[in-house]
Amino acid sequence: MTEIVRGVALVTGGSRGIGAAAAVALAGDGWDVGISYRTQADDAAAVVAACEAVGRRAVAVRADVAEAEDIERMFGEVTDALGPIGAVINNAGIVTPSAKVADYDVERLEKVFRINTIGAFLVAGAAVRRMSTARGGSGGVIVNVSSRGAVLGSANEYVDYAGSKAAVDTLTIGLANEVAKEGIRVLGIRPGLIETDIHAEGRLERIGATPPLGRPGKAEEVAALIAFLASDRASYMTGSMVDVAGGR
Ligand SMILES: NC(=O)c1ccc[n+]([C@@H]2O[C@H](COP(=O)([O-])OP(=O)(O)OC[C@H]3O[C@@H](n4cnc5c(N)ncnc54)[C@H](OP(=O)(O)O)[C@@H]3O)[C@@H](O)[C@H]2O)c1
Repeated sequence: MTEIVRGVALVTGGSRGIGAAAAVALAGDGWDVGISYRTQADDAAAVVAACEAVGRRAVAVRADVAEAEDIERMFGEVTDALGPIGAVINNAGIVTPSAKVADYDVERLEKVFRINTIGAFLVAGAAVRRMSTARGGSGGVIVNVSSRGAVLGSANEYVDYAGSKAAVDTLTIGLANEVAKEGIRVLGIRPGLIETDIHAEGRLERIGATPPLGRPGKAEEVAALIAFLASDRASYMTGSMVDVAGGR
């Protein structure tokens, strides 16, 4: 069987959870993989080792998506190590502590929008500057990781988080139209309740069985969708959002 080699993929927030599973799935699908992380270097190193174990090259870069300089450095270091990037998984994100809108303060709002929204816009912009055929690039794909919360609103928990992700859905639609003729597909995914460290203690135990499928999802189940969207198998898809939420 001929080995499939797809190019270089960059996964932000690839040290844990959905990003880590996506990195491993992409490596299994034939991509060399750059991952970024913010603090968990050991977890990032383990993901690099898992990608290498399936025969691909991989590198981890520490970069905070809330910092524009970090984003530029991240793209530079991954490109230097692995070559031109052809897929960007815009995944790094945080949730806010459970609270009602009436009790939010500026600091909380600035933090979640800075990382989830401004970070996602800056990563997408940096990807376009490198991949656009109008700017000398070879084209590519951007997969934005949003949330079902963007549609459901996340009342009584984190409406601010939901709003930060709704803006990411708008980024997917607008940017897809902007760069469709520049060789870049832009797609969004909206995970539901997925078993990762992102949840406050006890949340998954409390509501994990509430999706119609009766259980929370696994990071690997989201990663399989990401790998599909990044691949040529999704070559006629752009500007779409796909839910992976157990019917939620
Ligand atoms: N899990 C769910 O139920 C769910 C549902 C819908 C959407 N999502 C979205 O899916 C994405 C991944 O979530 P997850 O559940 O996999 O979360 P997670 O397990 O908490 O992992 C978050 C990842 O993002 C990185 N990260 C956090 N803040 C960052 C920053 N400022 N700059 C760079 N990297 C940063 C973390 O790096 P370190 O390891 O270094 O901390 C880690 O790799 C997020 O955008 C989240 O909103 C998750």
